[in-house]
Amino acid sequence: MMIPLTLLLLAGCSSAVAQLDIGYYSKTCPNVEAIVRDEMEKIISAAPSLAGPLLRLHFHDCFVRGCDASVLLNSTKGNLAEMDADPNKSLRGFGSVERVKAKLEAACPNTVSCADVLTLMARDAVVLAKGPTWPVALGRRDGKVSSATEAADELPPAYGDIPLLTKIFASKNLDVKDLVVLSGAHTLGTAHCPSYADRLYNFSSAYNADPSLDSEYAEKLRTRCKSVDDKAMLSEMDPGSYKTFDTSYYRNVAKRRGLFQSDAALLTDAKTREYVQRIATGKFDDVFFKDFSESMIKMGNIGVLTGAEGEIRKKCYIVN
Ligand code: HEM
Repeated sequence: MMIPLTLLLLAGCSSAVAQLDIGYYSKTCPNVEAIVRDEMEKIISAAPSLAGPLLRLHFHDCFVRGCDASVLLNSTKGNLAEMDADPNKSLRGFGSVERVKAKLEAACPNTVSCADVLTLMARDAVVLAKGPTWPVALGRRDGKVSSATEAADELPPAYGDIPLLTKIFASKNLDVKDLVVLSGAHTLGTAHCPSYADRLYNFSSAYNADPSLDSEYAEKLRTRCKSVDDKAMLSEMDPGSYKTFDTSYYRNVAKRRGLFQSDAALLTDAKTREYVQRIATGKFDDVFFKDFSESMIKMGNIGVLTGAEGEIRKKCYIVN
């Protein structure tokens, strides 16, 4: 597939991350992308529902201490790591990352960082779910610190409104367009009942259910998510096509059927609403794919460690 020049420029020339480079491993691990892709094909063909979780892992990594694979580190005696913070308890896919990393260690020992592995896996997850592709500049190094408190403080909450979400995204050098575009990742995956149950029961003193949620859809969700304490039940975030990366998320949001308050919030701001409504027409799928690629490149550049910073972990769940 032809990669547009604008994406190549965006991936390769971001001044903040000048040390990331598309050919970073060309001498030390020339087959890195093929190895990741090959494993990802096996992983996704065995479990297509893992595409969403692997994309989300990269997002949760980048928003806390930058894309440094800190989300993959296990807690240790005396330190509760990011992965054990409340918003991260529903993350999945850690085993798949270790599996890909093990393949890379066998081919090119001590060379490819877990942060790069995660970035490539997220890109390939989208591609294999029939979404767009984009070039990934490499050379991220792995962090040595992982804090549950930081994860709880910095990840956007499901109840976020536009001012809060905009502020959190801006703190990561992402703008309102990135917010509405990256929210489109909710075309993939499933959510646990507690992530949206507050919209269905005792929402406020005036309303039992969130009035910004389509009432028929709320009724349907209540049959799956029986109470705010129902922790096990999963709902598809983009019903009917939750394993396919497409634009139906925006059609759901436009019909007031976004699952989280953060999704519904996209209709409350003129700029994000205009974007949702435009993509929801189904006439601009290529625009969304290009925008998503651009925003993913920006997200993959957040706070990266390069050069002699950090380390190349041998195993992603533990520092060397
Ligand atoms: C705008 C702020 C965002 C909020 C408030 C948010 C919130 C959430 C929540 C609450 C869940 C459900 C967790 C569960 O109950 O299991 C979820 C799932 C998910 N999110 Fe987001 N998210 C946001 C942005 C993003 C971004 C930027 C991406 C990726 C680029 C992303 C990708 C995903 C995916 C793929 C899933 C499904 C995971 C699975 O199937 O296990 N989200 N998100």
